[in-house]
Amino acid sequence: MAAGRALAAQGIYKTYRLGNEDLPTLAGVDLTAAPGEFVGLIGPSGCGKSTMLRLLAGLEAPDRGQVVFQESPRLGAIGLMPQRDALLPWRTLLDNVALGLELGARMARPDARVKARAQLAAFGLDGFAAAYPGTLSGGMRQRGALLRTFLAGKPATLLDEPLGALDSLTRADVQEWLEAAWLTFQPTVVLVTHDVDEAIFLCDRVYVFSRRPGRVVAEVSVDLPRPRPKAARTAPAFVQLKERLLKELRGDG
Ligand SMILES: Nc1ncnc2c1ncn2[C@@H]1O[C@H](COP(=O)(O)OP(=O)(O)O)[C@@H](O)[C@H]1O
Ligand SMILES: [Mg+2]
Repeated sequence: MAAGRALAAQGIYKTYRLGNEDLPTLAGVDLTAAPGEFVGLIGPSGCGKSTMLRLLAGLEAPDRGQVVFQESPRLGAIGLMPQRDALLPWRTLLDNVALGLELGARMARPDARVKARAQLAAFGLDGFAAAYPGTLSGGMRQRGALLRTFLAGKPATLLDEPLGALDSLTRADVQEWLEAAWLTFQPTVVLVTHDVDEAIFLCDRVYVFSRRPGRVVAEVSVDLPRPRPKAARTAPAFVQLKERLLKELRGDG
């Protein structure tokens, strides 16, 4: 499986034009992700987080600044799981996950299905291989979508609020599952979330964005041992980090 690659954004500016109004969205963002690092972006709604991921993925160009990726060309080497990603409803979970291998890793469908089946088993989803997405719980669907994304084997993977629609209990389960998947595949990950607990639980480092136009107001390292058990959330170091991040989000850090 591909190990992660370094990714950096330098001096990123982006302004959208809406009618005849300028909408400054990002105003001088610098960020980095080391190979195999799990980096988080948190910030208020509308501050430019999804925009930042599209720029990192090379789907849009910044007005100023640049994205540097250790591997070129960047297009095709960075996977983006968009905010409203969905499994294809007419494909079983197995065939949805196999799609990551077919499209991302250019594997022939029979080989992709064999490998996908093994990975479903490795990640606790084998009982659901033949199920269609419409019959699965939200947590199962997101596990499937994430596994599909990781199996594409990209050296960097960008996740835009992948667990945003899940209730908090399911969410905590899928967070643990996601950490295990990341530890297995070791891509560089940039995760957008508006959930401070999720950022601390999953990330090695978290960037806090200001309100729009987004800029980085804080960068916080999360030096908690891995794998992180659910109980890590009540550890004093976790609670302190949470207070710090909430303060930065409120703008009184
Ligand atoms: N393609 C676009 N055209 C015009 N405005 C956009 C476009 N994409 C995003 N925006 C605007 O940029 C701002 C940031 O959006 P977004 O990056 O989705 O924020 P976030 O993901 O942090 O909630 C919002 O005000 C949004 O309306
Ligand atoms: Mg967004």
